[in-house]
Amino acid sequence: MELKLIAQDLMQTSKTTCDALIVLVPESFAQSKAKTTGNLTDVISQALKDGDFETKTGKLLQIYRSNHTSATRTVLVGAGDGSVKSVKTAVTAAVASIKSTSSKKVVICLSELSKISAESVKAAVLCAADASYVYTSTKTKVEPRKLTSITVAVDKDALNATDLIAAQVYITPAMSGIEFAKEWGNRPANHATPDLLGKAAKSLSKYKNISVDVLGLKEVTKLGMGSFMSVAQGSDQPLRFIVLKYNGAAKSVAPTVLVGKGITFDTGGISLKPAPEMDEMKFDMCGAASVLGTFRALAGIQPKINVVGLIPACENMPSGKAVKPGDVVTSMSGQTIENLNTDAEGRLVLCDALTYAERFKPAAVIDIATLTGACVIALGAVRSGLFSANDDLANALLKAGESSGDPCWRMPLDDEYGEGLKSNFADMANVAGRAAGSVTAAKFLQKFTASYPWAHLDIAGTAWKSGAVKGSTGRPVLLLLNYLLNLEKNTALAGVLPASTAIKKVAKKAPKTAVKV
Ligand code: BES
Ligand code: MN
Ligand code: ZN
Repeated sequence: MELKLIAQDLMQTSKTTCDALIVLVPESFAQSKAKTTGNLTDVISQALKDGDFETKTGKLLQIYRSNHTSATRTVLVGAGDGSVKSVKTAVTAAVASIKSTSSKKVVICLSELSKISAESVKAAVLCAADASYVYTSTKTKVEPRKLTSITVAVDKDALNATDLIAAQVYITPAMSGIEFAKEWGNRPANHATPDLLGKAAKSLSKYKNISVDVLGLKEVTKLGMGSFMSVAQGSDQPLRFIVLKYNGAAKSVAPTVLVGKGITFDTGGISLKPAPEMDEMKFDMCGAASVLGTFRALAGIQPKINVVGLIPACENMPSGKAVKPGDVVTSMSGQTIENLNTDAEGRLVLCDALTYAERFKPAAVIDIATLTGACVIALGAVRSGLFSANDDLANALLKAGESSGDPCWRMPLDDEYGEGLKSNFADMANVAGRAAGSVTAAKFLQKFTASYPWAHLDIAGTAWKSGAVKGSTGRPVLLLLNYLLNLEKNTALAGVLPASTAIKKVAKKAPKTAVKV
């Protein structure tokens, strides 16, 4: 797939030979006064006057072999106020309308948008690429992707050359990152085992500045990751702990650590989930997939930053060896945990990865997890849940989400929410009551993050779609990527999030007797 940005106006663009020309027409479109239809501007003006077309976002008018363009199909699409959101909606609608055609080369004209931002340009091209993605891994008769080239035209006065070049550098790696995340998210669990996930991560070490280590049971035992191991013990698939490093800056620059939940299949364990839609629990490694996708994008962009990716990967299965409700395990931090519901396994694998993250003296740690059904109830599929006690970090993530069109919404972390996590037999339980389930899950994770600025993204509602369009969305790769690229751009912000210096011990090592029988 070739993605290209060019600076030219509507008239020039209408003369470009292509299979489909998509023209975004905003409310601010300057209608021509001409009574005849001498050019495309006249045609659009006439269609608006006749009431056959509207500038309302997503409204469509298709023209076949128009005399006024060199395209086989011309699609006019309303772009409303021209915001990033409207551009995304408009492009999605227009690309969907030509999906069944044999269009290979598509040109999207944004030249009529008066206040175009680099964000809208990126959104337009990524949206079109997204709509044309085809899953291939486990299909024998794949209909290959029809679209091979997307060109976006912008008015040369609307966007300066530097922004245009920056956007061009960004789009192809961003698309590759999203597609890497989607492909691994979509793979069924028997084709995306912890070991295969480790190999997928390893495949990224061929890129400049990326190195990958994959740890197995022996190493993880040595590290004392008792909580992570307790989740993995019910499965015949060996666990993997994946460590990725992207080093684009000097060694002295504190890294940002991304921690992705990598449950390759979540049956619930002994606290077994009901059968309907259980297949969708293959998506329970979408946090991990978003970390891999972000690294894939970093590989292409090569920003001057340091990033570490951590992925605890395993299955959550019921078996004779599985962890049981009531079992108490010792986490790597030394804190003991009573497992009151084996289906609350995500936090149990993440907490050990969060403790492992301390060794990098990180500028910030962001975990990404399909953590709770409660987050789906709270926020649906529109925004991911964002939890952080650090305002600067939270605001930076909120901003990255808005500008990339991959938004999140800040949720509370008041201490009162953590009260339900008390246990009679361990330092904490892994579940509280039903109320505020996504918040109590975050409160659990917070107990392992005292040494650095931390944020948690609950992507249970946003990582994949159900029903006829079932599939991974590749979210929140763009949110993470934009957050990281802003760090590079904004050194002032890097100052706000200093490298954590003295690592405080989160908790004293629990007395050995706590787990002795
Ligand atoms: N992976 C699930 C969360 C999930 C469920 C995401 C449905 C998307 C759709 C997670 O491991 C889980 O099972 N969480 C439990 C926690 C509960 C036992 C406290 C949940 O949300 O029901
Ligand atoms: Mn679960
Ligand atoms: Zn899960």
